[in-house]
Amino acid sequence: PVIVPLLKLAVAVCLLMSVLLFLERLYMAVVIVGVKLLGRRPERRYKCDPICEDDDPELGSAAFPVVLVQIPMFNEREVYQLSIGAVCGLSWPSDRLVVQVLDDSTDPLIKEMVRMECERWAHKGINITYQIREDRKGYKAGALKAGMKHGYVRECEYMVIFDADFQPDPDFLHRTIPYLHHNPEIALVQARWRFVNADECLMTRMQEMSLDYHFKVEQEVSSSVCAFFGFNGEIQSGLPFRCCYSTLVIYPWHLSNKSQ
Ligand SMILES: *[C@@H]1O[C@H](CO)[C@@H](O)[C@H](O)[C@H]1NC(C)=O
Repeated sequence: PVIVPLLKLAVAVCLLMSVLLFLERLYMAVVIVGVKLLGRRPERRYKCDPICEDDDPELGSAAFPVVLVQIPMFNEREVYQLSIGAVCGLSWPSDRLVVQVLDDSTDPLIKEMVRMECERWAHKGINITYQIREDRKGYKAGALKAGMKHGYVRECEYMVIFDADFQPDPDFLHRTIPYLHHNPEIALVQARWRFVNADECLMTRMQEMSLDYHFKVEQEVSSSVCAFFGFNGEIQSGLPFRCCYSTLVIYPWHLSNKSQ
């Protein structure tokens, strides 16, 4: 006698939620179609010409802004080499690229391996520093924040964060930094992720499809209507858009400092 009304209530709640979900998707679809029809894609809306030395040959590599790349790590035995290697392989003048490996690992062996990997890249002329902390306060966000406290960070105009399992393509900075460089109103660029093994594994492929929905639809809608979006960092000012490529987040920190 109690169970039946309860079940009925549950069915009603489920129905209501389905309707809400459907309305949300409908709203997304309308905005996305609008964006397409009006040609409001980020690459049309914003100036994103590549930065190059030819504009002012005398400047040389000084024509490029200094970019700080942060890679937070926590016991990443399998992937640390790939991500550090990919970041050090980014095509950008090497005197305009500063790499911070922020290692919160608890395993001394892994710490040593990561430190040696950084040293190896430093010998090849990459401006890379290996940084550890006394404690793990604030976890990953704490590590990123601790990285910002170093004096030389003031010389960096833009900042990029890659998780330890990301492998950015070499042209990542050339495709993303121009948006920030030419458009002072933009505080953050969010690029889309891919899985390296999406073609080999059905589970990964399915995961990638749901991520694609998140990046391509949800985030593009938030970006287009200047709404809040799902970035769990300090900035919530919301002008993300993707550069349909592999990896993560960029925002000009001097801008966000100013606005907060
Ligand atoms: C690395 O970059 C920072 C910031 O531009 C600079 O202060 C520092 O001297 C550079 N280190 C090396 C070894 O080039």
